[in-house]
Amino acid sequence: MDCTLGGGGHAAAILSRLSSRGQLLALDRDKDALAAGRARLESVDSPATWHVRQAVFSELPQQLEALGWDKADGILADLGVSSWQLDEQRRGFTYRQDGPLDMRMDQQQSLDAAVIVNTWPAEKIEQVMRDYGEERYARRLSQAIVRARETQPFETTQQLASCIIAHMPSKSRREEQHPARRVFQALRIAVNQELDEIQNLLLTAPDLLNEGGRIAVITFHSLEDRIVKKAFRQYEDPCMCPRSFPVCTCGRKPLGKVIHKRGITADEEECRTNKRAVSARLRCFERRYETEAHHA
Ligand SMILES: C[S@@+](CC[C@H](N)C(=O)[O-])C[C@H]1O[C@@H](n2cnc3c(N)ncnc32)[C@H](O)[C@@H]1O
Repeated sequence: MDCTLGGGGHAAAILSRLSSRGQLLALDRDKDALAAGRARLESVDSPATWHVRQAVFSELPQQLEALGWDKADGILADLGVSSWQLDEQRRGFTYRQDGPLDMRMDQQQSLDAAVIVNTWPAEKIEQVMRDYGEERYARRLSQAIVRARETQPFETTQQLASCIIAHMPSKSRREEQHPARRVFQALRIAVNQELDEIQNLLLTAPDLLNEGGRIAVITFHSLEDRIVKKAFRQYEDPCMCPRSFPVCTCGRKPLGKVIHKRGITADEEECRTNKRAVSARLRCFERRYETEAHHA
């Protein structure tokens, strides 16, 4: 199962390796991504069956059930937005070009970035910037936004980016990274409830895997990576008994083992040719049903 079809790069690579007994289910919440991904899969010469569906991570169990599948051998999630979404001006994901203040992965949902910026109270915007962007100047920026919107509501990415740049301390404006980067990341996460979605995926994934099946997640920033790392650690050692207990009494058994403790990052060569790989980390967990509690 590829939970993040996007442009179909990973799904195509998986499909090309499947035999006639193999099946691939690929999901995305973005309709445009589904069309692009489907076109990519159609170009793959493979004897395997494949299905493409519009869905979010939290709908994974229903999607499996609808196909009459019990479990899967692999679950892949390549988190965040796709290069295609970022480059598409009208989707409003980036401060690098002007576009509507949108940022929705699923364009049918009603909450977009403009709603947050123009209607949410300053405290809530500040919280979003802090929690999802780790933005140091969250208070001053959220207050500046609320003041500015009284005169003119924000409609475009450049209006917002200019407001942020104007209210950043001058030393931050000289940083290598764009001053609006953290705020845009925060808004995108809030609009798409990305962290809740990851939590949902990680909650259901172990039960959806066959013996020896693997879940692989590619993260792009520390907030995502922390959630995945913590969940995998808990899968491996779910026991809640105090360490001082000689035997486990909670009865929680390990769900399998982490593959590559630190995860895998892109090598120098890949980072040179693909800038977006620089911050990527792949973490992987293998499901085992017959593992014993760690101190039973
Ligand atoms: C980084 S891209 C995937 C790129 C893809 N692996 C490829 O090879 O082209 C992430 C994709 O996942 C989708 N996505 C993100 N969060 C999602 C969620 N919770 N449920 C479903 N799709 C999601 C996005 O719409 C985007 O198309």
